[in-house]
Amino acid sequence: MNDITVELERRRENAKLGGGERRIEAQHKRGKLTARERIDLLLDENSFEEFDMYVEHRCTDFGMTETKFPGDGVVTGWGTINGRIIYVFAKDFTIFGGSLSETHAKKIQKIQDMALQNRAPIIGLFDAGGARIQEGVAALGGYGEVFLRNVLASGVIPQISVIMGPCAGGDVYSPAMTDFIFMVRDTSYMFVTGPDVVKTVTNEEVTAEQLGGASIHTTKSSIADRAYDDDVEALLQIRRLMDFLPANNLSGVPELPTRDPADRTEVSLDTLIPDNPNQPYDIKELITKVVDEGDFFEIQDLFAKNIVTGFARMEGRTVGIVANQPLVLAGVLDSDASRKAARFVRFCDCFEIPIITFVDVPGFLPGTAQEYGGLIKHGAKLLFAYSEATVPKVTVITRKAYGGAYDVMSSKHIRGDVNYAWPTAEIAVMGAKGAVEILYRSELDDPDKIAARTKDYEDRFANPFVAAERGYIDDVILPRNTRRRICRSLNMLRNKTVENPWKKHDNIPL
Ligand code: HXC
Repeated sequence: MNDITVELERRRENAKLGGGERRIEAQHKRGKLTARERIDLLLDENSFEEFDMYVEHRCTDFGMTETKFPGDGVVTGWGTINGRIIYVFAKDFTIFGGSLSETHAKKIQKIQDMALQNRAPIIGLFDAGGARIQEGVAALGGYGEVFLRNVLASGVIPQISVIMGPCAGGDVYSPAMTDFIFMVRDTSYMFVTGPDVVKTVTNEEVTAEQLGGASIHTTKSSIADRAYDDDVEALLQIRRLMDFLPANNLSGVPELPTRDPADRTEVSLDTLIPDNPNQPYDIKELITKVVDEGDFFEIQDLFAKNIVTGFARMEGRTVGIVANQPLVLAGVLDSDASRKAARFVRFCDCFEIPIITFVDVPGFLPGTAQEYGGLIKHGAKLLFAYSEATVPKVTVITRKAYGGAYDVMSSKHIRGDVNYAWPTAEIAVMGAKGAVEILYRSELDDPDKIAARTKDYEDRFANPFVAAERGYIDDVILPRNTRRRICRSLNMLRNKTVENPWKKHDNIPL
């Protein structure tokens, strides 16, 4: 018995060394933590229970029989984040560069199956070189099985990917099918084919950072939802994110204690909207002043900044926030903003997270660049997402709600449950200047007449009452009362039950 205990201890210690001291040191030199160090930071202290620590590959080609490491390049198991169960796998770059073999894939699949069966979130920490080259098609098969499980779990449990090193080949497609991707600046990059292959095929010369670094994926491609400065910051922020997310699509949102009163008034909001309707203001000021304790976890903070998306809490319960940002492009809806917000709305709807929408939108962005880029289809994504969403939806129009963008931004007509407007709201087909130029084209050379026409138009339409008279707005509220009114609405909607007609699945304009 004693011998076995000694052997167990020896094997454990050996497994914990991964690819060995030299490779661990190299990992640290690059500013990266090891897989186990990362898991320790991510999960509550001493909560990690590891599975399959002794699994080894079965490859016999290329002299692989002699080169085996327990764990085979991935650390898997479960633990807790602030007491809630989380399944986790972390690629171990010190073993064959974290590359995926048949047995390595089976370890991930086991964790994916357990997470889905037990309806708890799964987090993958990536730092890997793609398919294990020595295993050939067995590795490709392994990836396929992982991908399938990503898809089956989508919309049932939250799936989070954190990219903490290289991420190439097969290792990019599994994250791409999860709900959120986070990256670490300067040490992580993602691409389907690396700089060398790019050079061979297209003759382009790019560095790994230029091809798929965090700066690219958070600003240009929108593949990544956020980036952090180092491993520690990334992992602590993922812990924070997990506190907002439900365990699964049926569990309901988590409820955290809060000291922020639901009836808190915020007088400063009464002067948030500038007197000049063309002057911008920061919509994030409104968000942080309305939500519990100003705590807002922004998603895609660096991409399509003309719309803001993220998680917050009202009376301790998670909500999703979508808000036009007047500070950037006057808050206009373009293709990128529409895609960004549509995906966020769909995440919230999957997981029964109520959606609060703050509207100040001058319309869709005109121009050939947008039209050629598919604005019609991308704009339709957001319209589709809001329309199909059955979660509680509370909308507040702060200023402009013009044209099609009025309809899209969670209007009454597409099942907004409670639609408020501030007294400064202007709900119309378009702004006064554009409208007058079309309606009174023949008078354009007479500035006095145009000024009078513009004033007429503004008097008639630049207010919330035309919409309120039709019941499109449920009430016109004082800005200072916004938090109280939203909290009351969300309570009122707590048991909302709406079912869409049965279908296999919809056909959202992808
Ligand atoms: C086996 C691998 C490996 C791989 C790295 N290693 N990638 N072993 N299969 N795919 C091993 C190296 O031999 C080395 O072993 C150790 O990991 C570290 O690798 P280095 O190259 O020394 O590290 P670094 O310079 O940091 O470069 C990391 C890297 C590079 C950028 C990831 O290794 C690389 O380009 N690897 C290949 C990437 C790739 O093309 N993968 C296949 C993609 S195709 P030692 O013993 O020295 O520590 C694919 C198909 C799936 O994934 C498609 C499904 C849709």
